[in-house]
Amino acid sequence: MTATPQTNPVTDAAALSDSARDHLWMHFTRHSVYEQGGRVPVIVRGEGPYIYDAEGRRYLDGLSGLFVVQAGHGRTELAEAAARQASELAFFPLWSYAHPSAIALAERLAGYTPGDLNRVFFTTGGGEAVETAWKLAKQYFKLTGQPTKYKVISRAVAYHGTPQGALSITGIPAAKSMFEPLVPGAHKVPNTNFYRAPAQWRDDYKGFGRWAADRIAEAIEFEGPETVAAVFVEPVQNSGGCFPPPPGYLERVREICDAYDVLMVADEVITGFGRIGDMFASRRYGVTPDMITCAKGLTSGYSPIGAMIASDRLFEPFRHGTTYFPHGYTFGGHPVSAAVAMANLDIFEREDLNGHVRRNEDAFRQTLEKLLDLPIVGDVRGDGYFYGIELVKDKTTRETFDDDESERLLRGFLSKALFDAGLYCRADDRGDPVVQLAPPLVVDQSHFDEMEQILRSVLSEAWTRL
Ligand SMILES: Cc1ncc(COP(=O)(O)O)c(C=O)c1O
Repeated sequence: MTATPQTNPVTDAAALSDSARDHLWMHFTRHSVYEQGGRVPVIVRGEGPYIYDAEGRRYLDGLSGLFVVQAGHGRTELAEAAARQASELAFFPLWSYAHPSAIALAERLAGYTPGDLNRVFFTTGGGEAVETAWKLAKQYFKLTGQPTKYKVISRAVAYHGTPQGALSITGIPAAKSMFEPLVPGAHKVPNTNFYRAPAQWRDDYKGFGRWAADRIAEAIEFEGPETVAAVFVEPVQNSGGCFPPPPGYLERVREICDAYDVLMVADEVITGFGRIGDMFASRRYGVTPDMITCAKGLTSGYSPIGAMIASDRLFEPFRHGTTYFPHGYTFGGHPVSAAVAMANLDIFEREDLNGHVRRNEDAFRQTLEKLLDLPIVGDVRGDGYFYGIELVKDKTTRETFDDDESERLLRGFLSKALFDAGLYCRADDRGDPVVQLAPPLVVDQSHFDEMEQILRSVLSEAWTRL
């Protein structure tokens, strides 16, 4: 008789965790936690909106991995699309050559963008797309007779990626200080955090939006319009805990960019592909930027890809003579990723994922807003399937936690407690402390309730520990 091999999920999980601790360098991770005996959480599979760890425990994926898995986990048709493409043509670069998957995807993306954003430059991820957008802005102005325009304006606390240009655009000092000096010419303005708006705007959302947008005009004036090439904004800013645009804000940014001949870049690395109930949030909010950067949800994470999508005007100087854009990535527009993106977008259309988000977004908001009865929940904000819950020490004064409390609350307790209770999401303190939620776009009321119940119980416990 042949013995059936036995696996012990607990021992295997321990071995995986030990090996991760000893050899894997995790991103943005404090390794001391694991050196001191903490178990590295190891996720081994996913199905719909749920993920499973190496011990077989199930968690609701409240963050779509990292704002990525829009169509949900376990979609075998996306794996099959990858296998088909790899069997036919596993790799070819887009350096003076093309392949059918990239061609089809570029045309399809151009069809989803607002306005005449018809030219798609593929990358492997979001940071490279942001990097590409800044480089294009610089070269565009050099080619069109305004060579001193090279600076960028972006917003406080915004995250735009880790390559050194994208990191310069990023507005999180703690993510940058170790790598200074970074690329010069990146200036910051206030974001649209209405909960922390200056006192005179506390009761006037629209007025606050106008004020915040006008800070961009002011920064352009301060720097000199002849030096500023681009403004980078996420339609809904993630970092800091989900700041939607106040009414009229994005329109005003567009107006300011036009007035100063500055390019408007919508960084849709998170907000693209259904997160706000449309292929691009810019379209939902009715604004046409000059460039869109995107990545993450384009393949729902089944293979990596990103893109910078530019307007016809920006491509115009590259149509002629010997001029070209001296920029590229070996794996940009990888055939497998492009094929997976096409199959992912087929799912979006067949299942009307954007419509599903639009039909359910109010219910999601209302369910999360129930948490406002907890003493620790100061604000619930967001749009679509994208929310931040700000935690405060005092709801009346909106007083936030000091560094020590934040450390104990977020790092010492919340993230792990939420995970142990069955909800994978993010407790973040890159701005004020927030819990971030961005579930796969397939979730419905039952999952909203599951999130609310877990959050209610863990946040109530957190309050007693302060
Ligand atoms: C708005 C935004 N831009 C850029 C990036 C960088 O993308 P990547 O990590 O794919 O380089 C991110 C990543 O979270 C992001 O949220």
